[in-house]
Amino acid sequence: MKGIILAGGLGTRLYPLTRITNKHLLPVYDKPMIFYPIEMLVKAGIKDIMIVTGGNNSGDFLRLLGNGREFGLKHIHYSYQEGEGGIADALKLCEDFVGNDKMVVALGDNIIEKNIIQVVKDFKKQKKGARILLKEVDNPSEYGVAEIINGKIRRIVEKPKKPKSNYAVLGIYFYPSDVFSIIKKLKPSKRGELEITDVNNVYLKRGLLEYSFLDGWWHDCGESKDALLEANNFVRQYGANNV
Ligand code: G1P
Repeated sequence: MKGIILAGGLGTRLYPLTRITNKHLLPVYDKPMIFYPIEMLVKAGIKDIMIVTGGNNSGDFLRLLGNGREFGLKHIHYSYQEGEGGIADALKLCEDFVGNDKMVVALGDNIIEKNIIQVVKDFKKQKKGARILLKEVDNPSEYGVAEIINGKIRRIVEKPKKPKSNYAVLGIYFYPSDVFSIIKKLKPSKRGELEITDVNNVYLKRGLLEYSFLDGWWHDCGESKDALLEANNFVRQYGANNV
């Protein structure tokens, strides 16, 4: 199983904090944000990790993380995303790295209280398709939202103005290697990006999208300055990636 952390983008929702630095290098309590997804993958036994960065200060990731020794890693793979093509566009850069393996894709600004150990086990056993994580939230319009009827996801809508449920799709995704052929057929959305929600909807239409609910708190630190502040406080109070 490969691990991919997407850490590009301009982080405009956090301006001016991100005007001259990359969002994922900002502190969350006592560590840079990017430390948390790395730790999450390593704790789930995933040690073959690629970080996709881009935008401001991408070279600083190398200076900060090196080969990942402090996470118990021998090596970290890096890739560079040119422009702002979206999450699925960044993922495309990992095709050669992943080969025929399965992968966990984590957005570098998502921090969780607990861990993904059980979900990784479930995904390893899953014979076909992808898996996403869901969490009930108060502000679903900020996220991809899964409409669930009789225990089945009917569709996922990206940042809906009138959400049909409170189930947000987390930025931690589980894909088989055929995700790359799906991405190649995607068309950019209205905001000009290749959307990860469109990828998930392809699996859904094929009847190949499983889901799990996340236990414990979750923060998308890039969503707003308040979310970032709250993440700092939650990490301080409860810790993150707890096993
Ligand atoms: C992305 C995804 C969205 C998901 C969110 C989770 O949004 O597009 O579906 O719910 O991450 O963090 P972004 O925060 O990049 O706008």
